[in-house]
Amino acid sequence: MKKLLATAMAGILAVTMAACGASEESTGGSSKSDKVLTMGTSADYFPFEYIDTKKGEDIVGFDVAIAKEVTKNLGYDLKIEDMEFGSLLGALSSGRVDFVMAGMTPTEERKKNADFTDIYFESKNLVMTKDKAISSEDELKGKKIGVQLGSIQEGLAKDRFKDSEAVPLNKIPEIIQELNTGRIDALIIEDAVAVKYMDQDASLKTYQIEEDGPAGSAIAFKKGDKMRDDFNKELKKMIDSGEIEKLAEEWFQKEAK
Ligand code: ARG
Repeated sequence: MKKLLATAMAGILAVTMAACGASEESTGGSSKSDKVLTMGTSADYFPFEYIDTKKGEDIVGFDVAIAKEVTKNLGYDLKIEDMEFGSLLGALSSGRVDFVMAGMTPTEERKKNADFTDIYFESKNLVMTKDKAISSEDELKGKKIGVQLGSIQEGLAKDRFKDSEAVPLNKIPEIIQELNTGRIDALIIEDAVAVKYMDQDASLKTYQIEEDGPAGSAIAFKKGDKMRDDFNKELKKMIDSGEIEKLAEEWFQKEAK
C-alpha cells in the first residue's frame, strides 16, 4: 500500500514537472519548428485527456503522459491542440497537427486516411442509461442514443442500432448531461471513460455491448508518415517495460475531474 502510494506520488511529480515544461515551450516562438511536434486531441475524455481545471488550462491525462514520454525520447518538444473529436483526422490530413492521440480507435475506415501505431490500451463499449440498466440490445428500439460526433460509438449507434435514433453531440460531458435531463434515453461510451461518471452518480447503469472486435486506442499519423514507425518503437518499449501499465494505474485511479 505504502509502495503504491509512493509510486503514484513520484508519477504525479514527474507529470507535474513535465506539464510545466510543456506550457513554457508552447508560449515561445513559432508553432512549427523541427523540434516541436503538435498533438491534436479532444480533451473531454477523462482520464485519457482532460483539462485540469485546478491547475489552469493544462491538458493532462494518460494519453498526454504517453505522448510526453515518446516525444521526449525521440528528441522533440510537445505542443497540444485541443479541438472537437470529429475535426481531428481532418486536422491531421491538412497538416495542422502532426499526430492525433485522443483515445482513438484504429478502424478500417480511418486507416484509409491515416496510419496508426499499435493499440496501447483496450476498451469495450457500454450502453449507459439512467435509473435502470437495459438487459438486451432490443430495449434500445425506438430510443434516442447519445454518441460523440465522429466517434466509433456514433458508427455503432447507426449501424447496429438501426431502429434507434442516434443523437450525435460534440463533447462527452454534454452527452452525459443530455442523459441526466432525459433528452436522450441512453448513450454509448467506453468502459474506461464511464467509470468516473458511474462513481459520481449511482443512478447511472451500464450494459456491455457484445462487440464484433475489441475497441482500443492507438496514435494516428498522416498516411505514409515514417514518424509512425518511430513512435511505434518507443510505444513498444513502454509496453514491454511495463511503463504503460504503470501510467494507466496512475491515471485511472485519479480523482475525477
Ligand atoms: N475510441 C472512440 C473512437 O475512436 C472514442 C474516442 C473519443 N475520444 C475523445 N477524446 N473524446 O471513436
